[in-house]
Amino acid sequence: MNDFTCVVFISGTGSNLRAILEAIEKGALSGVKVAAVIADVDAPGLSFARDRGIPAHVPLADYSTREDWNRALVDCTAHYAPDLVVLAGFMRLLGAPMLEAFRGRIINTHPALLPAFPGAHGVRDALNYGVKVTGATVIDVDEGVDTGAIIDQRALTIRPGESEEELHERIKVIEREMLVDVIARRARNE
Ligand code: GRF
Repeated sequence: MNDFTCVVFISGTGSNLRAILEAIEKGALSGVKVAAVIADVDAPGLSFARDRGIPAHVPLADYSTREDWNRALVDCTAHYAPDLVVLAGFMRLLGAPMLEAFRGRIINTHPALLPAFPGAHGVRDALNYGVKVTGATVIDVDEGVDTGAIIDQRALTIRPGESEEELHERIKVIEREMLVDVIARRARNE
């Protein structure tokens, strides 16, 4: 059987990436391979790829215009012929070229219960609004900001007095489990 090939995009600490890699190592993501990791900045999480000999790219560093970067991103991703592009804490909007090239094959994880609290500060916005329940969502990526079809969601209850950091850490636990589950289901073609 051919591998189900993923390219993972990150911007930050890469705990979602690490969860995917560890699930593969434990045999919990049968047939799944992370062929490359791509970041928009020299993200700390790239070390999880480099430690394992997985190609790690930061194409933005080499391109001055957004258009060139979008093209470079498509070329870099297409080189690995991914079945799935996983945005795992990738903090930039993808341009039209990426969406055209990989439509239906890009998923994103977001730390709030969409359609509530889209955008870069989903955890903070949920806390500030005063909701009692929040969570994480995995979506199919479209042109909008966190507007794509919802694939899966997990919820948790906000604790009284909880800080943004504490809440985000708890969300990230359920987010990682869900992301691994969604990839497993896609790999099984479910
Ligand atoms: C996740 O909560 C993701 O949803 C958000 O940023 C966080 C990334 O965490 N956009 P990590 O880099 O995978 O640790």
